[in-house]
Amino acid sequence: MDGRPVEPRIEMEPNGPYIVHGPAIIVDADGHERRVEAGHSVKLCRCGHSATKPFCDSTHRTVDFVSRPHFEPERP
Ligand code: FES
Repeated sequence: MDGRPVEPRIEMEPNGPYIVHGPAIIVDADGHERRVEAGHSVKLCRCGHSATKPFCDSTHRTVDFVSRPHFEPERP
């Protein structure tokens, strides 16, 4: 570590889950919190087919989930 605070980061895996890198707190629909510590990550289902929602159980691979989200470049 270089002394800077570690920021949460969310990656969009092509044809797969969101990968949340801690430190972060995920809050469910009932207000329950799940803490993701720095240096750890969790995968959140994006395909809607996981048996362990909100977490990814890799079912997206067997249902041929196709989604490749991307941002348009920001204009200066
Ligand atoms: S994204 Fe992996 S099971 Fe849904």
